[in-house]
Amino acid sequence: MSTFTFNPENETKFQKYLTRYPNSDSCMLPALWLVQEQENWVSPEAMEYIAQRLNKSPMQVYEVATFYTMFNLKPIGKHHIELCKTLSCMLCGSKEIKEHIKKTIGIEPGQTSEDGLFHLSEVECLGACGGAPMFALDGDYHEKLTIDKVDELINKCKGVEK
Ligand code: FES
Repeated sequence: MSTFTFNPENETKFQKYLTRYPNSDSCMLPALWLVQEQENWVSPEAMEYIAQRLNKSPMQVYEVATFYTMFNLKPIGKHHIELCKTLSCMLCGSKEIKEHIKKTIGIEPGQTSEDGLFHLSEVECLGACGGAPMFALDGDYHEKLTIDKVDELINKCKGVEK
């Protein structure tokens, strides 16, 4: 029996998804996304829960959750920085942005800061090449990044006003 359950707000959203996507295969991605919104990651228990709710086998849910890199399969920091490392962003300075983030927060890509506040990932093109260099912070895109802009965003997450 799974220990994960949707909170009341997400249960309401899930019920809407069930009517919007009568085919349970189509409902799996939005359901997993809800899990991630609630927990910040998708645990094996949550996969089992989604399987029960959608009448699927846990393996079917696992296959979907592990296919898409957008799902965090282990706990991550409170704020997730997904820095694009693909060509346009690389040519426009993503390496400098990465070095600055590493220095400022003290973590390498794939790591979570000791205080649990940040997790840094390097990802492939997020489809915002015109705004290079860019990263997604908790799912929101921030484009044409500069060191100052990065500092401002990081400080905002820390609750520090400049
Ligand atoms: S190359 Fe970075 S968003 Fe496309």
